[in-house]
Amino acid sequence: MCGIVGYIGHRDAYPIIIKGLQRLEYRGYDSAGIALHDNGLKVYKKAGKVSVLEDFVKDITLNSTMGMGHTRWATHGAPSDRNSHPHSSGDRKLTIIHNGIIENYAVIKETLLSKGHVFKSDTDTEVLIHFVEDIERETGLDLREAVRVALNTVIGAYAIVIMSADDPDLMIAARKGSPMVIGVGHGEYFIASDATPIVEYTKNVIYLNDNEIAYISRKDLLIKNIDNTVQTPYIQELDIKLEALEKGGYDHFMLKEIYEQPRSIRDCLRGRIYPGQGKVQLGGIKEYVEKLKNIDRIIIVACGTSWHAGLVGEYLIEEYARVPVEVEYASEFRYRNPIINEKDLVIAISQSGETADTMAAIELAKEKGATIFGICNVVGASIPRTTHAGVYTHAGPEIGVASTKAFTAQVTVLTLIAFYIAQKRGAITQSKLIEYLTELDEIPTLVERALQSNDHVKTIAEKFKSSNNCLFLGRGSSFPVALEGALKLKEISYIHAEGYPAAEMKHGPIALIDEDMPVVFIATKHSSYEKVISNIQEVKARGGHVIAIVTEGDTEVKDMAEYVIEIPQTGEAFVPLLATIPLQLLAYHIAVMRGCNVDQPRNLAKSVTVE
Ligand code: F6R
Repeated sequence: MCGIVGYIGHRDAYPIIIKGLQRLEYRGYDSAGIALHDNGLKVYKKAGKVSVLEDFVKDITLNSTMGMGHTRWATHGAPSDRNSHPHSSGDRKLTIIHNGIIENYAVIKETLLSKGHVFKSDTDTEVLIHFVEDIERETGLDLREAVRVALNTVIGAYAIVIMSADDPDLMIAARKGSPMVIGVGHGEYFIASDATPIVEYTKNVIYLNDNEIAYISRKDLLIKNIDNTVQTPYIQELDIKLEALEKGGYDHFMLKEIYEQPRSIRDCLRGRIYPGQGKVQLGGIKEYVEKLKNIDRIIIVACGTSWHAGLVGEYLIEEYARVPVEVEYASEFRYRNPIINEKDLVIAISQSGETADTMAAIELAKEKGATIFGICNVVGASIPRTTHAGVYTHAGPEIGVASTKAFTAQVTVLTLIAFYIAQKRGAITQSKLIEYLTELDEIPTLVERALQSNDHVKTIAEKFKSSNNCLFLGRGSSFPVALEGALKLKEISYIHAEGYPAAEMKHGPIALIDEDMPVVFIATKHSSYEKVISNIQEVKARGGHVIAIVTEGDTEVKDMAEYVIEIPQTGEAFVPLLATIPLQLLAYHIAVMRGCNVDQPRNLAKSVTVE
């Protein structure tokens, strides 16, 4: 949510910043801007995508070895030129880019207005930079101290970078609740809201912690906390390959990421299962085995697609490990005084590892004494650093805003956790575990086969691309898959779509069914097969169009449905990993056919660092 990039060193800053903004555009894309230090501050900003900004500055000579850029996902103030970042102080000596929300901006703005400050935008960010300028002027403190004092007053979340016209060798970066990474080069530093713009220049990075402020010049870097205590930076080596950030011949990142799933699931399983021995090994949580033997309950907290993965996890953990599980929207959990104690295990799921609501849910559960595990994709993000232990998904960077490979990797990790707990608590026999793990080991190959339905799915997409509504129905662990199928379709194609447990259809949604309503069923040959067939009949009787995801070789549903999409035969536990694939493809093709921007759907951003 909002992308930040900055550079200070000896190279030409503009190309580094603009390329960085392109890499970060998935975080927000309603406006973009840059500030360069070139005999004072030069600021250029435009509503629209980074390409609009690029076009805007194409005839301007931009000479600078220090600058910063921002790509925005609007919180305060509609997307427009004037609300775009960077924002400058009244005297234009200071400029800022910001990701997050300053919650008490209105009070501060009122005070500043009474002192004669004039604002040019509707943003909370502009208030913050005026506030810093005001402190500097009124107290005589230098910029470093003025920023620190300002940050001690503001309430909210932020990742900011500030530059001053008076200092061509200082950038100030700070974070609280919003990510910030500093890349360390030779006589140069890179600043960004995630590592993607940095990786092609240096692998050495420092993740700023909450309440830390970095004072960055070409020669050195000083990090202090907000109380003015010097911090020792911890330099980490990035494990991201540049190719992972490119489209690699695919039309869209989303399609590339859908096709990466055999690889991403394989990476997720690597070194963690030993089918022949019936053994699951999860190094990230191994210190907690005794705890796992004694927990009374698991609470899964997450948002969006990650919440859907959590629902699959509920089925798996209850079925195999026999531990009660509750799955909660993090945004609800954090505000409803939940009953939690030290015998609870909370599992927080997040692709980005930065989602504000999920972070807040973790903090709350921690305060109440629970043990917290994280399931995250982005290594070193805030959530894996806040949780007690966890399991990375290892799906690789996910750039398409709609989550695909991260979802299947989350489900894979939850499957592993279910078997791990089952094994440790003696809830499963060794022979059963050998059988399940052998099947799980086959899943990457079966996902490859499920992807072969692509052309067929494209034909079906052609048929339904103009629909206004769509229902997705499933039972058991296919119910969350239906929810996920509906979310994929609505978020990238803007078709209204609902996911429902198939049996619930007759308690309301059935009223919607007519000859204009496509209904997608997950109807694989498992425990609820016959029941789902009855639901298919109910839809057919009312003229609805049935598209069914079925097990390879199925003939019964084939005779009933208008279209069937086959997925390979597998055990019930693993159906979500296969049934999701055609649903992702269906959403993708429909969105492309409708001319939608698949990788950057309207109003969305990849990581939601505001509540
Ligand atoms: C949908 C999607 C979102 C995210 C949600 C949580 O395709 O990607 O619903 O799943 O915003 O994000 P993370 O997993 O980063 O916490």
